[in-house]
Amino acid sequence: MNLCVIEGDGIGREVVPAAVQVLKTALPDVAIHPAEAGWDSFLETGEALPEATLRLAQECGAVLFGAAASPSYPVDGYHVPGIQLRRQLHTYANLRPTRYLPVPTAREGINLIVVRENTEDLYIGHEHTEDEGRTGISEKVITREATERVARRTFELARRTGRAKITIVHKASVLTQTDGLFRKVVLEIAEEYPDIVTDELLVDTAAYWMVKDPTRFDVILTPNLYGDILSDMAAAWGGGIGLAPSVNIGTGVAIAEPVHGCAPDIAGKGIANPTATILSIALLIRHHWGQRELARSVEDAVRAALKEGSHTADIYAENALSTQAFTDRVCAHLSAASALS
Ligand code: NAI
Ligand code: MG
Repeated sequence: MNLCVIEGDGIGREVVPAAVQVLKTALPDVAIHPAEAGWDSFLETGEALPEATLRLAQECGAVLFGAAASPSYPVDGYHVPGIQLRRQLHTYANLRPTRYLPVPTAREGINLIVVRENTEDLYIGHEHTEDEGRTGISEKVITREATERVARRTFELARRTGRAKITIVHKASVLTQTDGLFRKVVLEIAEEYPDIVTDELLVDTAAYWMVKDPTRFDVILTPNLYGDILSDMAAAWGGGIGLAPSVNIGTGVAIAEPVHGCAPDIAGKGIANPTATILSIALLIRHHWGQRELARSVEDAVRAALKEGSHTADIYAENALSTQAFTDRVCAHLSAASALS
């Protein structure tokens, strides 16, 4: 088993080593191949996603990516490396599950998964200005091909994991040519899966229900931008952004990455929550390496650590552990469980 490990920027440099420690406890034979990407890499080498990193990722077939610091203003030659990586590795579906975890900040009963189309929508980044910079224009692209493959993957996933309902989230009432196409194609694919209930919500209504009652959702299938936003909202119900995992899958290579960013406000302090990244590794183990029991044992170890009251400061301040101390607790539970089995 080979894993290309890209820490990236900020807390990526803290939570990624923590997840690697857990992975090595669960799977001692895994070979780790470190690589660079992100803002620091851009400043040093002029490339946010160096060619060598991309090649290594392809060779390994599996990637763990922390997060990259991307400025909110245009920088010549800089492209958001996470998005580039997902697109270049053809990982067209981003799975973002939110399941109840035993922390006081989580909502009981929540168990949903957002499947976010990963390769198009406004995130293709075709933008320009006109009118001497007074007008900004962005292209939103939705294709039948990309929608079909993410839809089919989602229905198959629902079937395999025993999920009963897929909700298509869109704004086809306004964006008839783009979201309208997304909706139409998903409904066509849905006909091939009569065992799964398919319904739909406009994205603003979906946001309302995500706040009001997130337990009503099972699987949400949605274009890139809405998926990005709705999954952060779901993460709040899962106990917080520091607990929210994701995995990108597609035609061969998979990328595990937390939902959160590089958290510059807490970077370098050793207090970041590694849970999101550890659970992302569990998703990689399950969905890419196909080792369901091993994935469950990692998730169980995280749950056991949280249940005993071990936590980092983002959950609550009192008796908070450092990133390292929390990771050690997860590894202790993992080792104890494997000693028993
Ligand atoms: P963020 O997710 O980095 O942080 C939001 C808030 O959540 C902050 O208060 C942060 O301290 C907290 N937080 C996030 N992860 C945490 C963890 N593991 N443990 C404890 N607290 C945690 O989002 P923000 O602040 O909007 O973005 C910061 C930078 O991250 C930006 O440069 C942005 O471009 C980048 N970013 C990168 C992503 C990626 O590479 N996949 C995804 C999202 C943002
Ligand atoms: Mg996001």
